[in-house]
Amino acid sequence: MRRSEVSLGVGLGVMAVVMLTGAGRQSDVWLFLGRFHPTLVHLPIGILLLAALLELAVRTGRVPALEPAAPVTLYLGAWAAIVAATAGLFLADWGGYPVAVLAWHRWIGVGVAVTAVGLCLMRRRAGAGPRYAAGLGLLSAGLVVGGHLGGTLTHGEGYLSESLPASVRRVAGLVPKDALAQRSIDGLDTAAAYQALIQPILDRRCGACHNPERKKGGLSLATLEGLMAGGKDGKVILPGRGEQSELIARLWLPPGHKDRMPPDRAIPIAEAELLRWWIDQGAPAEAKLAEIDRPARIERVLDSYGLSDLPSGIFTLRVPAPDSTAVAAARAAGLVLRPLANGSHFLDVDARGALARLDLLRGLGPQVAWLDLGGTDTGDSVAATLGGFPHLTRLHLERTRVTDRTVVALAELPYLEYLNLYGTRVTDAGLRPLAGLRRLRSLYLWQTQATRAGADSLKRSLPRLAIDLGGTVAADSMQPAGTSR
Ligand code: HEC
Repeated sequence: MRRSEVSLGVGLGVMAVVMLTGAGRQSDVWLFLGRFHPTLVHLPIGILLLAALLELAVRTGRVPALEPAAPVTLYLGAWAAIVAATAGLFLADWGGYPVAVLAWHRWIGVGVAVTAVGLCLMRRRAGAGPRYAAGLGLLSAGLVVGGHLGGTLTHGEGYLSESLPASVRRVAGLVPKDALAQRSIDGLDTAAAYQALIQPILDRRCGACHNPERKKGGLSLATLEGLMAGGKDGKVILPGRGEQSELIARLWLPPGHKDRMPPDRAIPIAEAELLRWWIDQGAPAEAKLAEIDRPARIERVLDSYGLSDLPSGIFTLRVPAPDSTAVAAARAAGLVLRPLANGSHFLDVDARGALARLDLLRGLGPQVAWLDLGGTDTGDSVAATLGGFPHLTRLHLERTRVTDRTVVALAELPYLEYLNLYGTRVTDAGLRPLAGLRRLRSLYLWQTQATRAGADSLKRSLPRLAIDLGGTVAADSMQPAGTSR
């Protein structure tokens, strides 16, 4: 037996010892060695696939001169597989990885190392026959599947399929991407922020080690009760004080610090921000996302989640059905009233044909959500009437006689999302009161006396607001102004 074969045998032996003694082990030395796995693992994948390609090139008679390179490459690949798999065994018990995926990944990794060594011996003894070729095919398949599972462990389930183009997703029978985003948005409108955003982060990042069966540090993060109960050292969150909460403090410790959580991997900053924000808000169990204060910083995080276009806050409100006699009277006077959505109690009102009878809407104050007064003779006297529509989300005042006096009254309308003031006499001074309207997304100021400086100053308070000053949309707006509802 050759020296090289004996050494491969020794390598496999070391790997077996690590595998048998390593279960459940969590020492710093092991973690240190394990950290090399994600880098090392690329070597056997590359080298062994190259060995298979070389054999193919030689066997098909294309490049016979490569014949001597094939066994050498296979030998190097076998060593790389042993080293990478052993490093992986060091890491396995540290990651808090999904158990089933990890088990398959581990066995395939070990299997690849053993198979590669077996093929080395086989080739030297019996040459490159059909059995050898079959073995090499199996080895290549193992590398691909094992590598993919490794990617799933590192990046999470579906990290590959997530970025597939829509057409491929359809053929593969996967849920369309838009539908994925849509589902969570629908949920956020009705579900509690904790349930929709916070618990999923804890499940994904902490669940493997902090669950009812495996309570590391005496802490389960699988439920709100567990989170509130804390760990062996007491409470881990202080409602209203995110920064001082143990749970948050540990996320920001430097890598390698023994108290850092999660121990072996980082949590994305966006998720850490969300956790802190939720605790800052008092760690509410039931509050809906639309009801909690969302500073610009958090809006940006929600953007990165694809939640930039939260549905109107009014849909979280329960208003009574509009009074049918009031609706009939308004319609008879020429006002056009439509339900905002099928089954919704909110109304879309077009008052352009019956401006004089605006008073007929007084009994429908809570229900008026959209109002169109564009191009009418409306002046500042309308301000008092608008104050009676607390749930206005969309307001057309373009080409009317309103001035800054009316805009000041609008600052009292917290649900306002769309405001068209094009062709009015509004100035920069009139914009200032709007700074408190954090749901405002679209503002039209074309042909007014408002300036770029005034618009920029408002955007500093409302970074997600798109302002149209005429033809152009203010830079970094989230949606093209003309197309938002
Ligand atoms: C790989 C396993 C693992 C993961 C994943 C993990 N932890 Fe831990 N966590 C531990 C271990 C082990 C301890 C106990 C450390 C000790 O006893 O000092 C601990 C302790 C804690 C404690 C202290 C509890 C106490 O009262 O002493 C907090 C807080 C904590 N983890 C938060 C988190 C958060 C938040 C996450 C997710 C972002 C997380 N951990 C993810 C393993 C993990």
